[in-house]
Amino acid sequence: MRKKVTVIGAGNVGATLAHRLVDKQLADVVLIDILEGIPQGKGLDLLEAGPIEGYDVHIKGTNDYNDTANSDIVVMTAGFPRKPGMSRDDLLKANYDVVKAAVGQAARVSPNAILIVVTNPLDAMVQTALRVSGFPKHRVIGMAGVLDSARYRTFIAEALRVSVQDVEGLVLGGHGDTMVPVPSYTTIAGVPISQLMPKEQLDIIIDRTRKGGAEIVNLLKTGSAFYAPSAAVVQMIDAIFNDRKKILPCAAYLDGEYGIKGLFVGVPVKLGARGIQEIVQIKLTADEQAALEKSAAAVKELVEIIGV
Ligand code: NAI
Ligand code: 2OP
Repeated sequence: MRKKVTVIGAGNVGATLAHRLVDKQLADVVLIDILEGIPQGKGLDLLEAGPIEGYDVHIKGTNDYNDTANSDIVVMTAGFPRKPGMSRDDLLKANYDVVKAAVGQAARVSPNAILIVVTNPLDAMVQTALRVSGFPKHRVIGMAGVLDSARYRTFIAEALRVSVQDVEGLVLGGHGDTMVPVPSYTTIAGVPISQLMPKEQLDIIIDRTRKGGAEIVNLLKTGSAFYAPSAAVVQMIDAIFNDRKKILPCAAYLDGEYGIKGLFVGVPVKLGARGIQEIVQIKLTADEQAALEKSAAAVKELVEIIGV
């Protein structure tokens, strides 16, 4: 039997994710949104591409959570992007309400699903999803690290004129200005970055990575990134459905790992059929550990505002 993925939010990230999932024939997809007609229209349009692209997976757009029942994975992309004049706290509270309502309904009809949260502010929203769903921590995962690491790897590959496939790099911490690119685990075809790039050049890339989301917002002006974010979610879903036990940076609930307790923070995890199969604890330099703790403190501030 084919797997079933529910994508909540038929906006830029959600619809692009649905497109990628059916193109790769990873699962049947249900696309749900509060807007009437949008998920139905996008779902039907994607279904009608099946004969041309040659996929048999089914996709349906809906406003009814009953259609999402018994999903294997639920991806939460619904929510507001930041608009001019909106404070970070305004976005936090608005999206808290959206996540609470949508995840609550989805979790009720898919009690065994794995939840992947995309909605911002990411780390606080995935913590909200954990509380609202009541799911165990290994089945609630935030997407940010795969995206932030992809940006970091892109900039390094461009600077060194090497294949992106040869660049390995991790970005940990919260999905915000305090995120933590980790030079000590950045390699090009196994060669440490320190041997190939001066520190000053890498520092510029680290700064650009931290501002990677804003760089796209400033260019688009009407929204935020969605091609790379949806690709990142697909990589996580592929790791889960194929039980790859792939090590990816994801927001995971930490219970003392890395000296952080009771918070979602981006760390390397092993992703497989059961969701997070292990939080991989790597040795960080003192500077990297301090940066991770500072980033966790920024996440904690947001989480305390909404009290989750
Ligand atoms: P968008 O505005 O294109 O789409 C959001 C969709 O959510 C809209 O179709 C809207 O109708 C729907 N929605 C709003 N309230 C809803 C509810 N209660 N139930 C169901 N649907 C609802 O936004 P986009 O670009 O798709 O981004 C979505 C979210 O993902 C934003 O919060 C954005 O900041 C975040 N994001 C996070 C990333 C990450 O790395 N974690 C990367 C990219 C985006
Ligand atoms: C990004 O990093 C908006 O969080 C989103 O592109």
